[in-house]
Amino acid sequence: MLTPENAMKFEPLRPSRERYDFDHADALVDFAEKHAMQVRGHTLVWHQQLPSWLTERDWTRDELIEILREHITTVVGRYRGRVAAWDVVNEAVADDGSLRDTIWRQVIGPEYIDMAFRWAHEADPDALLFYNDYGGEVLGPKSDAIYALVRDLLQRDVPIHGVGLQTHVSLDWFPEPQDIAANVDSLSANMDRLSALGLVVHITETDVRIERPITEDELAKQARIYGAALEACLSAQNCKALVLWGFTDRHSWIPYAFPGTGAALVFDDAYRPKPAYHSLIDGFAGH
Ligand code: XIL
Repeated sequence: MLTPENAMKFEPLRPSRERYDFDHADALVDFAEKHAMQVRGHTLVWHQQLPSWLTERDWTRDELIEILREHITTVVGRYRGRVAAWDVVNEAVADDGSLRDTIWRQVIGPEYIDMAFRWAHEADPDALLFYNDYGGEVLGPKSDAIYALVRDLLQRDVPIHGVGLQTHVSLDWFPEPQDIAANVDSLSANMDRLSALGLVVHITETDVRIERPITEDELAKQARIYGAALEACLSAQNCKALVLWGFTDRHSWIPYAFPGTGAALVFDDAYRPKPAYHSLIDGFAGH
């Protein structure tokens, strides 16, 4: 399964209101098909990586609705039957559990979420549609808020099929080795309650960052965290994918986004497999 890290976001796809640039996205979808991989489309509605022509102007509610409708219809329609799953809405919940204050919410209102899922479903009725976020992996205020959001969407018959758990974490995700089991339980419980709603879960953007300088012990702990995420996914009824946010430390957003940290992926920057890689392989082998 392949996820474009940036190529399907609003800004790269939309150099101007009139123009779409599908070159990179097309190349990735072609690559995936050539290699018998599914594609997770990422992402249709987000508050980041929006083009300045969109953010640096005041729009009326009707105008912004039309921009979003046209965008979703065009992008999902272009890849109809070729993108298996879409992150329709990304990171709409703030860290305190409230609905995040974004251009979409400010100008359209909270119903932008319903609209986005309905337009995506119309454009490709067979694609699995996801709500995707970070920090909602284990039980807690944020995963509670995400749970409530998707439950309400289902109650309103909004076509949503799954929740994406980004899983950008650090070694502190499991502060002590003995916490790993507790966190697997908490992750499993969160997946289970989403399953009870009839929703699939994908772990969508895994990386496990480490503070520099990095020790062997830390790489071993990182391997246990990757293993724990895989274990939770394999043992859940509804967890159908585990996607990593890149594969080699040579190309990773982590050193830029979290300065002083790195080595978050399963191959090192010379493309050599790390303990985390072996942990995933062992996890699959043991299942
Ligand atoms: C990140 C990319 O990895 C970076 O290259 C880009 O500069 C910023 O976005 N959550 C998401 C992803 O849903 O889209 C983000 O990707 C990482 C956090």
